[in-house]
Amino acid sequence: MFSDLLPEDLARPSSFAAPEKVYQLYRELRQDAPIVRVEPRGYRPFWLLTRHEDIAALESQAEIYQAGPRTVLLPEKVEAVYDKIYGNPNGVRPLTHMDGEYHWLHRAVTLEWFGAKNLKQFVPAIADIAKEFVDRMEDMGGECDFSADIAYWYPLRVVMTLMGVPREDEAKVLRLTQRLFSPKDKDIKAQHEKAGHSVVKTESSATQDVVGEFAEYFRSMTEDRRRDPKRDIVSTIANAQIKGCPMGDHETTCYYIIAATAGHDTTAASSGGGLSGLLDFPDQMAKLRSDLDLLETATDEFVRWTAPVKHFMRTPTQDVEWHGETVKAGEAIMLAYPSACRDDRVHEAPDEFRIDRPRSPGHLAFGYGPHLCLGKRLANLEMQAFFRELLPRLKSIELGGKRTYIESTFVSGLKSFPVRYTFG
Ligand code: HEM
Repeated sequence: MFSDLLPEDLARPSSFAAPEKVYQLYRELRQDAPIVRVEPRGYRPFWLLTRHEDIAALESQAEIYQAGPRTVLLPEKVEAVYDKIYGNPNGVRPLTHMDGEYHWLHRAVTLEWFGAKNLKQFVPAIADIAKEFVDRMEDMGGECDFSADIAYWYPLRVVMTLMGVPREDEAKVLRLTQRLFSPKDKDIKAQHEKAGHSVVKTESSATQDVVGEFAEYFRSMTEDRRRDPKRDIVSTIANAQIKGCPMGDHETTCYYIIAATAGHDTTAASSGGGLSGLLDFPDQMAKLRSDLDLLETATDEFVRWTAPVKHFMRTPTQDVEWHGETVKAGEAIMLAYPSACRDDRVHEAPDEFRIDRPRSPGHLAFGYGPHLCLGKRLANLEMQAFFRELLPRLKSIELGGKRTYIESTFVSGLKSFPVRYTFG
């Protein structure tokens, strides 16, 4: 092994502040140890799977590999607290944590909502929001932090608009999302404490606070949409029936949480990562600017390149064998999506940013199988609208300082991305 990192370092959020080192580790693992047992201090052991074809094959067998028992990597102490409070080690139980029929019935609630036909009606509204944010960038006078000033706010505005959340509450939702996904990041922690809503003690109590705040926030919206349904996502969730019965309060809150949170940090990271790729590969920037129709494939490359979701986990219900190693029933396997996205067995020259990569074979940054990201189409649509507005208006753009990354083992991307630009 030549990487500075060891597999157990993938349990350390700060490792993801240096993505090149993480990619080097994945490269070596895909080659020499495509499944490896990892035993980080403070965490239950797990197996790490790094090749594209293995992850896709595993996710296709959802009857054997379950999401529910252990969905994401959490410190053992945090899992123990969640177990006591929520009766499972994951804490909350949104779609990503469900299995079998229960999962399908809940996924069906918003499946149509996120489908092409329904989203089409929002295309003009999304284009208006994109324009508003490109105007904001222009108004900033030629310098901004693309991540902190633009990328984190634009997808948030889109999702909040589709959900029916008023503008004045967006900052609150962003803070709660980042706290949920990146509880260890110092800057995010400080921001959360500054807001004064919940003073952070431990990771588990912070999550409890965040879930409590989300529940509180959406309670009155649920009542309102049950009385007077609108065309928004909150109305769909508030009025959903599972086998003829309304969803319970905690289930409803978890549904809001995933709808409100899954879509913006991920899309923000991919927009930042995409622009960063365009700056690092100027030939690709020139190509895209000369043919904006390439945005159709380019935004998918933004997502492959960034792979903001660092993992999900699955637990087999029976003993299984991978590359000569036996994984016992009940032992969790971590699916390393960013590794799959750079697997040269599937992607030609994976460390090159190419905006016109063929659509097939697709990448795994949106996952695969029954849990495939519900917001995939929306994420691409949003990024296309933004760059379709931005690129023709830009005269020049260059890196304006050091790029830094969010410290998180779950969802991470650029935290700070200073750029200098002129509008034409
Ligand atoms: C570039 C942006 C995004 C990325 C990289 C991403 C990635 C992912 C991944 C990896 C999963 C788990 C898939 C699996 O387990 O196989 C997922 C699930 C999900 N995503 Fe996304 N996502 C993005 C944007 C969005 C958006 C915009 C929304 C909606 C507002 C959304 C909503 C969901 C939901 C509801 C699930 C759960 C699906 C299920 O478990 O059935 N995502 N996403």
